[in-house]
Amino acid sequence: MKTILHAMKTQEPMSGLPELLHCIVSHRDLHARLLNTLARMEYVGVRKMVKARHSDFLTVDGLQHMLEESAHALRLKKYAIGLAESPGQVKTFSSEHTLGGDAGEQYLQDVDAACAKSLEDIKNPQKTEMNYLLSSAMIEFRAEVFYPVYEACLRETGASFSISAILKDEERHLAQMIQSLEAHCPDWEVRCKAVQQAEAAAFSHWMKGVSESVEHALAVI
Ligand SMILES: [Fe+2]
Ligand SMILES: [Fe+2]
Repeated sequence: MKTILHAMKTQEPMSGLPELLHCIVSHRDLHARLLNTLARMEYVGVRKMVKARHSDFLTVDGLQHMLEESAHALRLKKYAIGLAESPGQVKTFSSEHTLGGDAGEQYLQDVDAACAKSLEDIKNPQKTEMNYLLSSAMIEFRAEVFYPVYEACLRETGASFSISAILKDEERHLAQMIQSLEAHCPDWEVRCKAVQQAEAAAFSHWMKGVSESVEHALAVI
């Protein structure tokens, strides 16, 4: 687990992340669009969970996970609306209302596809359930690397809101995913390592999408 987090923390896009986030946070409208992007990703995560999870496997923790990710989407959306010059600027999850929103959604789809590929030897319905656990774990690992950098940027710039409560939820989700993987997929760490490269590439692609949206917006100002 530590090696997965270490690899994510030290990969190329992470070194430029504080600078990129400071640039975004210093422009109110760009910051609102980033928050809206994060809200979209939380929402897409929920949508994927609802579609993937079979009733035979769904427990109270599974329902709670969906509810909490929905709450994250709503909270981030409200922060975005509060920050935007006009609420219409972050009305939908379209490209113009987000920063690299399409690439952000693609990140989730790519991680999902890479996890499904790494589970080809397992038959359904267990495969779908393990894909939920494995892809959620990879995304929660990324959240544990991304959100603290963003939270540090918020504190350094004196932002009026915090995402520390969301981060606490994500930490708990990751612990739950690992606990379930230990029980149902003993070689989960090997499988995580097998999809690490694809996850890193998907994250880089998302960060590139965010950077391009920022450059485009700043060129227009
Ligand atoms: Fe979340
Ligand atoms: Fe989560």
